[in-house]
Amino acid sequence: MEQTKIGVTGATGQLGRKVITHLKQSIPAGQIVALVRDPEKAKDLGVEVRTLDYTNPELISLALKGLSKVLLISSSEIGKRFGQHKNVIDEAKRAGVPFVAYTSILRADTSTLPLAPEHKLTEEYLKASGLTYALLRNGWYIENYTSSLGNTIKAGAVYGSAGDGKISAATRSDYAKAAVKVLTTEGHDNKAYELGGYSFTLTEYAAEISRLSGKDIKYINLPADEYAKVLEEQAGFPAPMARMFAEIDLDIAKGELETDAGTLEKLAGGSLSTLEDSIKEALHTI
Ligand SMILES: NC(=O)c1ccc[n+]([C@@H]2O[C@H](COP(=O)([O-])OP(=O)(O)OC[C@H]3O[C@@H](n4cnc5c(N)ncnc54)[C@H](OP(=O)(O)O)[C@@H]3O)[C@@H](O)[C@H]2O)c1
Repeated sequence: MEQTKIGVTGATGQLGRKVITHLKQSIPAGQIVALVRDPEKAKDLGVEVRTLDYTNPELISLALKGLSKVLLISSSEIGKRFGQHKNVIDEAKRAGVPFVAYTSILRADTSTLPLAPEHKLTEEYLKASGLTYALLRNGWYIENYTSSLGNTIKAGAVYGSAGDGKISAATRSDYAKAAVKVLTTEGHDNKAYELGGYSFTLTEYAAEISRLSGKDIKYINLPADEYAKVLEEQAGFPAPMARMFAEIDLDIAKGELETDAGTLEKLAGGSLSTLEDSIKEALHTI
């Protein structure tokens, strides 16, 4: 009998690396294939590496040969993503891959987040392809906040336009565990999972930083235009990206990134990392 092989795209990315780590704890490394655009960056993964660039159908076709399951981690090239994902779905269909899981965004079908349309198009295309699929509709990463904790502490403030909106963020590691569960167990065919962690507001985030760091950190809620300026001038974001993140905050204020943690807990196999855990971890690195 042919051996089951699970391929993971974007395996050299931050989420992809965590998926590979958790997969190695679940199945033999020989059954894992890292699908990456730069094999040099994948040397330390300890699994088979194949070259796959979302923009190159020929490479995708070769890379997907013989795989029984594929995790399509959404591309980071915002604005170009649907065409790239479409290439992978087309080639997965041609190669007869029996199961494709896709990392989407929370409630991609109805979300008003500016990031949602590319995910919605991908989901619709995947469903229409006839492939057996699973949709991992990931909410926000906690690391979206904690990765800039050093600067936040220096500034003495968390800035945003999210008001009292609740953010059900979880760590990349917990989303990776959920993906591994879906890839290595049965019962996920054609399912969509809304995934998120324990909810907090940005006021609560700032209070938690204060408590854990001993520094006084406030949440300062700004009009979206002003927050976009802060992102541009203080964090160095290009203007369109700054504008997009300010718009995302307005959506957060409306509850677009809030969900129940139960589904992620179930798939990740227990309680999730908390905001406190993530802040403590980030405090060690600054
Ligand atoms: N839920 C959230 O809060 C959140 C936040 C940010 C992003 N996301 C989405 O989740 C995805 C995974 O997150 P992440 O943190 O792992 O992002 P990441 O670290 O930026 O990883 C993105 C991965 O996509 C790969 N990639 C980009 N363009 C590609 C191409 N043309 N062909 C093949 N691979 C390509 C990158 O390859 P290289 O390793 O060679 O660069 C990288 O491995 C992101 O791409 C984005 O769609 C979600």
